[in-house]
Amino acid sequence: MSGVLAGQSAIVTGSAGGIGAGIAEVVAEEGATVTLCDVNDAVIEVAASIRAAGGQAQGFVADVSVREDVERIVEAAVDVGGGLDLLVNNAGRWTESLVTDDWDKVLADWDLIMDTNLKGVTMFGRACAPHLIERGGGNIINISTYYVLPARSEGTNPPRTDLYASSKWAMNGLTQAWSQKLAEHGVRVNALCMGATDAPMLRNLFDGDPPADFAATWMTPRQIAGLAIDIIREGPEGRTGENVGAWVGVPVELGPRKPPHEAIAGTPLR
Ligand SMILES: NC(=O)c1ccc[n+]([C@@H]2O[C@H](COP(=O)([O-])OP(=O)(O)OC[C@H]3O[C@@H](n4cnc5c(N)ncnc54)[C@H](O)[C@@H]3O)[C@@H](O)[C@H]2O)c1
Repeated sequence: MSGVLAGQSAIVTGSAGGIGAGIAEVVAEEGATVTLCDVNDAVIEVAASIRAAGGQAQGFVADVSVREDVERIVEAAVDVGGGLDLLVNNAGRWTESLVTDDWDKVLADWDLIMDTNLKGVTMFGRACAPHLIERGGGNIINISTYYVLPARSEGTNPPRTDLYASSKWAMNGLTQAWSQKLAEHGVRVNALCMGATDAPMLRNLFDGDPPADFAATWMTPRQIAGLAIDIIREGPEGRTGENVGAWVGVPVELGPRKPPHEAIAGTPLR
């Protein structure tokens, strides 16, 4: 299969639906053998549908917050693909949380969100780094949120997102530190920081039935996947350590590379 990822091996976590499934589909269309994983067993069907469309994919039920699962998934990807070229840390959890919540709720919410959004991302990064280094180059793409680009998002970190937003702000540390450590090995590390994108996580906020005119404005998982592919397409000299934003109402496209001081914080609206 031709494409920018022809002959390559990729992992996309949290790929039973939503943005992860969209990225896995597009990564396979670009020629990679893709390893999907999710706690939701619908991931098996997503992998099967990619194969039915002519792509190469394998799906596993796995929890990114469990070390043994992380190691099992990475091993499976390396086995089937003969190595590893791309990790997309997409699995994420959201729940409403407020500074005024009671202690039992906040501690349960902390585990729910941080175990997946931070511990899982951390473990996948560490498990994949040796394989990406061995390959002599590759990409890690962390899936973040536009909440970490307040200069472009009117300071958007709504009160009910304190833990979710914190998990994604903390992800900035991983993206930055990994990009610097792995640069000498040709491995680039960037984050995608999108606004409203049509996926179960967002639809569930409206009990699955969002206002049609509002939902019509949302970006699609395949548009977000296109950004990931464009980052990869930049090649070894491309950007690294950057938060790439995507907002509803403006074209979803990879902008110019940002100067270092704006790489994580983003470019203010002028
Ligand atoms: N949809 C949006 O508007 C939006 C905006 C900004 C960022 N994001 C981010 O995009 C990513 C994908 O979210 P989505 O919107 O597609 O939501 P989603 O809920 O549809 O997808 C998340 C997937 O991750 C899986 N998952 C959750 N915890 C897991 C775990 N511990 N191990 C394995 N799989 C797990 C879920 O089962 C689900 O399939 C998330 O990181 C989310 O924070 C989404």
